[in-house]
Amino acid sequence: MSLIKISQLSKENILLLFNYTKKYIKSPKPNVFIKLMFKDLQLENKILVTAFFEPSTRTQLSFESAMLRLGGKVLRFNKENSSIKKGETFTDTIKTLENYGDILVIRHSENGILDTISNITHKPVINGGDGSGEHPTQALLDLFCIWLKFGNDFVNKTIVLYGDCSNSRTIASLSKLLDLFNIKYYYLAYPGRYKINNYSNIALEYLKDINPDVIYCTRMQNERTEGCNIPRDMIINQEFIEKHISNEKIKNNEFLLLHPLPRNEEIDSSIDKMLYSGYFKAMDYSVYLRSMIICFMLNNTFDL
Ligand code: NCD
Repeated sequence: MSLIKISQLSKENILLLFNYTKKYIKSPKPNVFIKLMFKDLQLENKILVTAFFEPSTRTQLSFESAMLRLGGKVLRFNKENSSIKKGETFTDTIKTLENYGDILVIRHSENGILDTISNITHKPVINGGDGSGEHPTQALLDLFCIWLKFGNDFVNKTIVLYGDCSNSRTIASLSKLLDLFNIKYYYLAYPGRYKINNYSNIALEYLKDINPDVIYCTRMQNERTEGCNIPRDMIINQEFIEKHISNEKIKNNEFLLLHPLPRNEEIDSSIDKMLYSGYFKAMDYSVYLRSMIICFMLNNTFDL
């Protein structure tokens, strides 16, 4: 009933979600499409509650925008002026929120806490990110972008998960999705941010040999462990692309650079407009994909 981690999803569920989302994006009358696909949902009577105990721009706003575009309503919980300030427990807060909405999107800094939350409430909960644990809807968006670019051949692509491989929850969730679809991937980490106990860590000098189709870049998660600087040669800019990515792939538009955002210095803004830079376009898709996730959850389309 709740969407907390990637292991709850099947390939069939995910491909269904992607196909519906693509149709929704292409539909000349998106609202009519939703009404047709989800006849009994009555979205105008549904309320989405967002409760973010950790900062967010994209995840919170895209879920809220998605619900509003679907014709539903949104309630935003703000911990700063809530009864948490009077000592109310987290559990009591969630028990309260469930009375005011039909579906909850929650983000929290504690790994695994969303499992506990989904057991406290009867309402469906979507994990908007739990510490360095998981961020399933972001990973679905990332895989959706890969699927949209490469079509059914996406399963034959090679992905490099790049950056803060030990702390990024989006890398954690995306790697699980890649495992599910049996897609080949490697980790290329900033110093000290390796995927521990994993043999697919590679060094920068081998990137060209790996010949990746996708680099999934992440920022240094300084809020989780003490920060360190990104080596200059790991900052992705024009020179980096020319040095490490096959010319052929760039020329034929067969390479994709993704990032969940926010970014710091790890991707130079001078390459934002390149055909291979997919991170801003992903934000546009995120509203469609999250609209579809809301509909699937309220309609019990996922077998969760
Ligand atoms: C990510 C997150 O919060 O985990 N951002 C997002 O949801 N788009 C990535 C990050 O914070 O680095």
